[in-house]
Amino acid sequence: MSDRLWIAAGALLAALLGGGTANAQAPSAPTDTLPQRLAACTHCHGAQGRAGPDGYYPRLAGKPAAYLYHQLLHFQQGRRSYPLMTHLLKPLDKPYLLAMAEHFAAQSVPYPPPAPVALSAAQMQRAQQLVLEGDRSRQVPACASCHGQALLGALPATPGLLGLPRDYLNAQLGAWRNGLRHAHAPDCMAQIAKALAPEDVAALSGWLASRPVPVGASVASAPARLPMDCGSAP
Ligand code: HEC
Ligand code: HEC
Repeated sequence: MSDRLWIAAGALLAALLGGGTANAQAPSAPTDTLPQRLAACTHCHGAQGRAGPDGYYPRLAGKPAAYLYHQLLHFQQGRRSYPLMTHLLKPLDKPYLLAMAEHFAAQSVPYPPPAPVALSAAQMQRAQQLVLEGDRSRQVPACASCHGQALLGALPATPGLLGLPRDYLNAQLGAWRNGLRHAHAPDCMAQIAKALAPEDVAALSGWLASRPVPVGASVASAPARLPMDCGSAP
């Protein structure tokens, strides 16, 4: 993660913890309403959760609510690590986390055009093969078989893969490979990420980040049967 990100995040945390000044004109106003807590989230995740400006903070808008809810639990309980978020989530109970997840899942905001990504023809071809067909020799099913043909996710709890920054995608696949990100068992993404070659990860992240999101495409209803068991939303 870039230093710039940490500095911005540190300033935000100081503002959140420093207390009071924002409410100087209404000292008795409650400071823990849902809109106030959501304002802390959108500071990093962009208005309505449309993704932050830094090329790292992921989009939240329109992702399946069950996926978002379980990610919040993962951060709160240490299966994913981002200390500044864990700090915000620590005091919140499950109904509150669910309300936040449902709020962001219900947001429908346009996707920005993808950032240009330099990939060789061989990298493009390899990424496309993994996404659409998978690689039997590595026991990697097609990404699209779980993430939906449009790659915008599938209900109830599989997130989309488009509209995410390359650095974020790289970091997530890397975190699964290194054991820093966990889903509920069986953690299919950990198996898949570990089965990929390092150069596959780079090709996939670049290719996915370079794809425009088709207008009007949305989360698919769940495929009848996933090619592997995933415990993402028990
Ligand atoms: C200081 C900046 C910051 C704040 C504030 C913040 N987040 Fe995050 N959030 C991040 C970053 C960075 C990640 C990605 C971390 C990683 O690398 O896994 C993330 C990841 C997430 C994810 C996982 C997204 C996915 O696709 O898997 C969810 C859900 C989320 N945040 C929700 C929230 C909510 C709800 C709040 C408000 C309570 C919040 N965040 C506040 C920076 C922030
Ligand atoms: C067997 C089904 C399955 C297959 C195949 C699969 N995924 Fe996933 N993927 C999931 C599930 C389920 C999750 C949500 C995990 C969780 O709950 O944390 C996920 C999450 C992810 C995420 C995290 C997204 C975010 O917002 O943080 C990335 C990145 C990802 N998958 C990439 C891939 C890529 C690339 C491929 C193909 C090489 C792939 N996946 C193949 C089921 C699958």
